[in-house]
Amino acid sequence: MRRPLRILSIEDDPKDTKLIQDLLETDGLVCEVMRVDSQAAVLAWVEQGGIDLILADYTLPSFDGISALKFAMKACPDVPFIFVSGTLGEEVAIEALKIGATDYVLKTRLSRLVPSVQRALREATQRAERRRAEESLRQSETYLAEAQRLSHTGSFGWRPSTGEIIWSEETFRIFQYDQTTIPTVGLVLQRVHPDDAARVKQTIERASRDGKNFEHEYRLLMPDGFVKYVHVVAHALSLESGSIEFAGAVMDVTAAKEAADKVRLIIDTVPGLLWTARPDGAVDFISQRWLEYTGMTLEQGLGWGWESAYHSDDLEQILATWRAALAEGKPYEAEARLRSFDGEYRWFLCRACPLFDHSGHILGWYGSATDIHDRKQAEEGLRQAQAALAHVSRVTTMGELTASLAHEVNQPITAAVTGASTCLRWLTRDHPDVERAREAASSIVKDATRAADLVSRIRLHFKKGTLKRELVDVNEAIREMITLLDSEATRYSILVRTELAADLPQIMGDRLELQQVTMNLIANSIDALKDVDGTREIAIKSRRTENEQIEICISDTGIGLPPRQADQIFNPFFTTKPHGTGMGLRISRSIIESHGGRLWAVDNSPRGASFYFTLPAEAEDRNDARSRSPSVRH
Ligand SMILES: Nc1ncnc2c1ncn2[C@@H]1O[C@H](COP(=O)(O)OP(=O)(O)O)[C@@H](O)[C@H]1O
Ligand SMILES: [Mg+2]
Repeated sequence: MRRPLRILSIEDDPKDTKLIQDLLETDGLVCEVMRVDSQAAVLAWVEQGGIDLILADYTLPSFDGISALKFAMKACPDVPFIFVSGTLGEEVAIEALKIGATDYVLKTRLSRLVPSVQRALREATQRAERRRAEESLRQSETYLAEAQRLSHTGSFGWRPSTGEIIWSEETFRIFQYDQTTIPTVGLVLQRVHPDDAARVKQTIERASRDGKNFEHEYRLLMPDGFVKYVHVVAHALSLESGSIEFAGAVMDVTAAKEAADKVRLIIDTVPGLLWTARPDGAVDFISQRWLEYTGMTLEQGLGWGWESAYHSDDLEQILATWRAALAEGKPYEAEARLRSFDGEYRWFLCRACPLFDHSGHILGWYGSATDIHDRKQAEEGLRQAQAALAHVSRVTTMGELTASLAHEVNQPITAAVTGASTCLRWLTRDHPDVERAREAASSIVKDATRAADLVSRIRLHFKKGTLKRELVDVNEAIREMITLLDSEATRYSILVRTELAADLPQIMGDRLELQQVTMNLIANSIDALKDVDGTREIAIKSRRTENEQIEICISDTGIGLPPRQADQIFNPFFTTKPHGTGMGLRISRSIIESHGGRLWAVDNSPRGASFYFTLPAEAEDRNDARSRSPSVRH
């Protein structure tokens, strides 16, 4: 139910007020009427608010209707104000209407009251509605202007047929023109950077000719010399008249452009060749440095075109690693040679990482290639120096063993000579025994072959060969060394015992180097045993460990590690022997470590020392460890 109409009646005669109320109610207007007859009371009601209509007598004992009207116009201009009076001359009536009264009704013609009130109320409602609409329009215009200001996006309308252009406040601000200026194409072109002017002019001309949507980006050169970047998008709308109007947006993209330039600067400055790729691995960005290094163009390098920059020997491995990384979504790392623009190849460390979204999908790949050529060469130099040192050490050791080695070689030769005499004897008998002679001859062949084998094996250790990586049967390599050192052991009455595991996996490595380690350790054990009384024994064991490694142990019953100096024995030049070099263990350790293994020593109780070394058994892992880790890690 509608609430009753609240009417303020400014009237000194209660009867008149009653009459007015009755009149209104007879016509169905339910109302609540408050009668007042003093200025103070009018003030109080108007200030309190909630009044729908004011009906006022013109003459009152204490004050007059006109001042009540003036006051109401100020305090509540929306509330209709109708004079209901017995005395109202035409002039006064006009004056009242001018001030803002809604109507006037003479008490003598009260029949006009109801229609007048109804009209006043209707008009008041309409006014209120209009004001609300205007207010909300004004508000949304404010919001729009504010949004344009915040987003640095102005709007425009353009009718090429008339040349008429409308700009929003922000567009004026972007072009830095006063809002009183009338925008024209000429004014726009006046601000365009001279280098972009021809292009912009062309775009505008084409748009006005073709009447099609357009989008372009260009620079503005401001009067103060400041350069702005704007991005303009416009849509063509066909008007009823058949002509075209464009509605568009001008975005000031200077900040974004500067941020992008900064990122570009970082990308082109960091010392690395950078790139990005799509989730499927197709390269979609390559840094300037990459292009400059390879001498390729962006178009040549994008997608999978970069392949041709890699050394053909490395490409297969690079592609396999990259494809595996793509398939698994895991970081990628590889070393490979990249051809520079002048045809020279340099080593690079190539890496890439995937970028994931929240749900774990790959958004793209980010990669770099870092020049490691100099480091790689230094490593190689170090490796070569170490190999040379190892060689010298090997030759020295072999030199020290000359007597024993000569003895070792001598044995099969002596046997062969004996065999030859025997053979001769069988042949020079009256009845030559050819069968026996044949047996003797074949044992000569066997002995001579053994001697020749030994000699060539010894020569191998003197030779300065290049490092070779091959599958090595460690047990076999150990056995060969034992044969070589057999005479030396016998010379000092040393018993060499072996316990070599039958299930030992092969390892990937340099056979000669590994034999050198075994020889160094056995030679040290022989040295440690030379002067001891009691059992002189060397035990050589090999076994497979739980973590897919092989472990070799060479232990003796010798004098044991030097007291209080056991932690120094691996230091270069540390020796407790009068003619020692102190390099044997040092070299042995770096050989083992370059094979990805470890070498260490423990004291035996009650006598002697044990030396252990491990080597990784898996050929695959070996490759990696060797190519990645520096040769000496101390
Ligand atoms: N089996 C061993 N028993 C006792 N001490 C050893 C043994 N092997 C090495 N050492 C100690 O380690 C030192 C360093 O050995 P090494 O580096 O081979 O140099 P060198 O044999 O020329 O002394 C030896 O001088 C010795 O004191
Ligand atoms: Mg030694």
